Amino acid sequence: MRNNCILKVLNHQSSPRMPIWIMRQAGRYLPEYRAIREKAGSFIAMIKNPELVAEITLQPIKRFDLDAAIIFSDILTIPDAMGLGLKFEDGIGPSFKRPIVTTNDIDKLSVPDPEQDFKYLSDGIECTLELLQSRVPLIGFSATPITLARYMLQESPEHWINNHPQQFHQLMRMLSASIKQYLLLQANHGVSILQIFDSWGNHLSTPELYNTYAIPYITEIIQYLHNHAPEVPVIFYTRHLNMQVLEQIANIPHITALAVDSPIDIIQLRQSNPTIILQGNLNPSHLNNSAEELTQATKQVLQSITNPELHIFNLGQGITPSAKPELVAHLIDLVHQFET
Ligand code: CP3
Repeated sequence: MRNNCILKVLNHQSSPRMPIWIMRQAGRYLPEYRAIREKAGSFIAMIKNPELVAEITLQPIKRFDLDAAIIFSDILTIPDAMGLGLKFEDGIGPSFKRPIVTTNDIDKLSVPDPEQDFKYLSDGIECTLELLQSRVPLIGFSATPITLARYMLQESPEHWINNHPQQFHQLMRMLSASIKQYLLLQANHGVSILQIFDSWGNHLSTPELYNTYAIPYITEIIQYLHNHAPEVPVIFYTRHLNMQVLEQIANIPHITALAVDSPIDIIQLRQSNPTIILQGNLNPSHLNNSAEELTQATKQVLQSITNPELHIFNLGQGITPSAKPELVAHLIDLVHQFET
């Protein structure tokens, strides 16, 4: 690997500089992404075409001095393969043609066959690795069961917990089984790092609910990866969670790094977790305006990083279409110039 800074940090080794990558780094803020999207017609057509996946994954790597690539795909591929029928509508976001409405809908679900149902993804990874030529490590990803359930269920997760707790657990078990195989497929096809998105963990609104309905499944997924792909570090991304829940997550065995969103005070999180690797957490809105604003906000995050050797720089959540590409380049310079 020509640039292995991020792997150094994830392995608790010293890195020549603080690594940075950006969630959703291949996306609509890039004119070259918008050009391909126009030709391909839809987001789903893009993620199911291995050559396009490789080309799009490489777009931000060609333009910027980033320290990792992330495979161009989506977390909602799993429920799509389970038969829910994924669709994206402009201005509305993702939804399913056949969401889960009744307990019978859960009984009808089955765990996808990874090699067959996600061949477009494993082929996409292989094409990408060929184009990438070991410039930077490639990140693979999926989401937590609760985050996927939030999209799959017509009613809220807590409605299901209150009315059909056994069927809710059944759904969580099936999603865990799928996520394990989906992540292992990516590791087996050559990704160097896995990130698990818990973007909607806050739909379990108390630490007790999170402890009962999220932690056991996350623990199981990460233990499985540790058993079957022990060399692949796992970054766990959280959003809208409070410190109490974050502390529960930080105690899950074999999570390599904890990624946090912008409202999280990383000084406080660091104090109670002196050896954990952290990732984050600049607010993406600072990429919309001026270099001055961005510089000030970035310096503030950098100053809060009390152990730079244990930090991977990123945004607190995905970059938005309104971000200015020249400010992304400026952000990467600021982080790389920072003395670790
Ligand atoms: O980070 C990357 O560059 C890799 C690709 C990636 C995408 N989605 C591409 C995408 C990743 C890692 C994701 C994860 C994802 N997808 C999450 C977790 C991260 C988070 O944001 O909290 C979630 C919740 C989803 C579900 C999803 N996919 C939503 C809510 C949307 C619509 C929102 C939007 O930005 O339009 C998508 C579509 C999507 N996924 C786009 C991209 C580049 C936009 C597609 C387009 O319109 O061209």
